[in-house]
Amino acid sequence: MDWQEHEHEATRAIEGAATADDLDAARVTYLGRKSELAQALRGVRDRETGMLLNGIRIRLEAAVAERERVLADEELERRLRDEVIDVTLPGEELPLGHIHPITQVRRMVEDAFLGLGYEVRDDREVETVEYNFDKLAFGPTHSARSPRDTFFFENGTVLRTETSPSQIHILEEKPPPIYMVSIGRVYRRDAITATRYPIFHQFEGLAVDKGLTLADLQGTLLHVMRALYGPERRVRFRTHYFPFTEPSIEPDVSCGICGGAGCRTCKFSGWIEMGGAGMVDPRVFENVGLDPEEWSGFAFGCGLERTAQLRHDIPDIRALWEGDLRVLRQF
Ligand code: DAH
Repeated sequence: MDWQEHEHEATRAIEGAATADDLDAARVTYLGRKSELAQALRGVRDRETGMLLNGIRIRLEAAVAERERVLADEELERRLRDEVIDVTLPGEELPLGHIHPITQVRRMVEDAFLGLGYEVRDDREVETVEYNFDKLAFGPTHSARSPRDTFFFENGTVLRTETSPSQIHILEEKPPPIYMVSIGRVYRRDAITATRYPIFHQFEGLAVDKGLTLADLQGTLLHVMRALYGPERRVRFRTHYFPFTEPSIEPDVSCGICGGAGCRTCKFSGWIEMGGAGMVDPRVFENVGLDPEEWSGFAFGCGLERTAQLRHDIPDIRALWEGDLRVLRQF
């Protein structure tokens, strides 16, 4: 056996191994338990041969370790090159939604009232006849009590037709002074048209304190209308009737399209109807156990859809409910 030639051959195989598998095969062939070298080492009888063969074994093992290191470096290089991520490539686009115009207006209303120190609440949508009508002093023959106008369930429950029952709930929950705004959905049996939808939103304000007057109501509504429609707006009151206020009024806000001169939006009157309001009726105070001689208050209710329509000049209320992105993306 020419051990020198054998070592050359083994070294070439080890250094020429192109992959980790090739290298392992060479290691098994030249250094494994069944390799010629291992077998020869097991049969060594004299010191000289032992030193020769052990020297070869040690050098070959070192060559394997060195080749292993080189291959690992090359593999790392390759991966760094091939698997590199180009962080300058544009990422996958994630379509982000935005806030629905009704929610936008709702938040503006909340901000305007929080600025006045009002508390914001969100009441139940399924009410009882007692809270939706009776305690708000609706007369027994009021048209809203008819199943033609209102969605009734069994045993005296209804889908609330207005946010006004919130007035009763808060008055029963805690003693005045009270400054609250309640915002949420209401339901009426209306056919769907460009101006009516059987579900819509209202915001309802209630202030109960000592010595409140219509002037306080007017100042409050002026503040809110200016927050919603801009600082130039003016507010006026027309007399009206609601069961739970006395006197009752309908507030108008000056038209922002024509500035009050008259245009199609304001039906050439210069004013736009904003909802209902008034001074809390003494019967409402009595229904919640408060003395109307001691306490005074004002209340108001306005539609959020109407507010969104006016702010964005949306002619058809259905656009706010149909969820058509081509429409909603505009706001
Ligand atoms: N609830 C009335 C409606 O839906 C609006 C309203 C009128 C609310 C007068 C009030 C109010 O708080 O005082 O038509």
